[in-house]
Amino acid sequence: MDSTASPDAGIRIESFLGEGEERSLAQDALDGLTRSFKELPPKHFYDSRGAELFERICELPEYYPTRAERSILDEFATELVELTGAEELVELGAGAATKTRVLLDALHATGAPVRYVPMDVTESMVRECASELTRVYPGLQVHGVIGDFERHLEYLPRSHGKRLVVFLGGTIGNFAPKPRRAFLAKIAELLAPGDHLLMGVDLVKDPDVLRAAYDDAQGVTAEFNRNLLHVLNRELNANFEPSDFEHVAMFDPEREWIEMRLRSRRAHTVTVEALGLGVHFGAGEEMRTEISAKFTPKRLQDDLAVSGLDLVRWLTDPENRFALTLSRRSGA
Ligand SMILES: C[S@@+](CC[C@H](N)C(=O)[O-])C[C@H]1O[C@@H](n2cnc3c(N)ncnc32)[C@H](O)[C@@H]1O
Repeated sequence: MDSTASPDAGIRIESFLGEGEERSLAQDALDGLTRSFKELPPKHFYDSRGAELFERICELPEYYPTRAERSILDEFATELVELTGAEELVELGAGAATKTRVLLDALHATGAPVRYVPMDVTESMVRECASELTRVYPGLQVHGVIGDFERHLEYLPRSHGKRLVVFLGGTIGNFAPKPRRAFLAKIAELLAPGDHLLMGVDLVKDPDVLRAAYDDAQGVTAEFNRNLLHVLNRELNANFEPSDFEHVAMFDPEREWIEMRLRSRRAHTVTVEALGLGVHFGAGEEMRTEISAKFTPKRLQDDLAVSGLDLVRWLTDPENRFALTLSRRSGA
């Protein structure tokens, strides 16, 4: 663990990545690239270029989730702050924390001291948002955690008063159903009586609208998808030629999730030197790079209940595209 208290007042940053993270990419690549249906987890999209591409995706006309979630926050932030009495925001997968500012505005308006704990795998995002937010909100304490929320939740700093865990952007949809429930159960363990989880989920809707959100006309999402190959080339000394792979976004109507895949345009073999691995791709072969599950109220309720969480509020935008859910530990 690497810990730095920044010369900027109010900022402390801890990192749990480095060697371990490289191992996680190596393990995931070894596992995912040697399966008959190749697959890599989406967290590896997010080096600093991937994070910037994601920020551009959020601005695209087709990518409604960011605008929809933001509109819910705009409408309900003050009520959420009053209802939760939050003194600390712990944000998982915080990214640039753009929408979080709506909550921070509402918290700041109460005049009470607040601590913000952003956790993300992208170091640059944690550091940049810590300096930016302490500048915008004088008196805000930021304890940034550079880490993997699947492996490092137990390293979050000890609670600093009433806690609101924030998990926005529909990122929970990146988990398959069973690990999703296991992860929610781990989040429940972070909550003491009086603490809450505020989580954004994308809703089931017209498949054409969903597909367009993951396959925009400008090709930014395609670039984001192929960024994974750049990460593998740089981190594991692989020789993927990104232009050999086509971006694919499809909706699985049975599972009600979007899948992003990379489809090999030709039969060829890629070398991943750090793993001593030759990986053959057939012409047209697809590798899955992300699932993004879409929710109904029932799916969400069932997931929460099984994971030891009770739904307190279900808030949607006027067009019912996205939901912001507030829950607390069952029995708390
Ligand atoms: C879909 S983006 C959402 C960003 C932001 N919360 C929003 O709502 O716009 C997912 C974010 O989670 C981060 N992330 C993905 N997997 C992660 C993991 N396993 N541990 C920590 N952060 C992760 C990414 O770096 C990225 O910032």
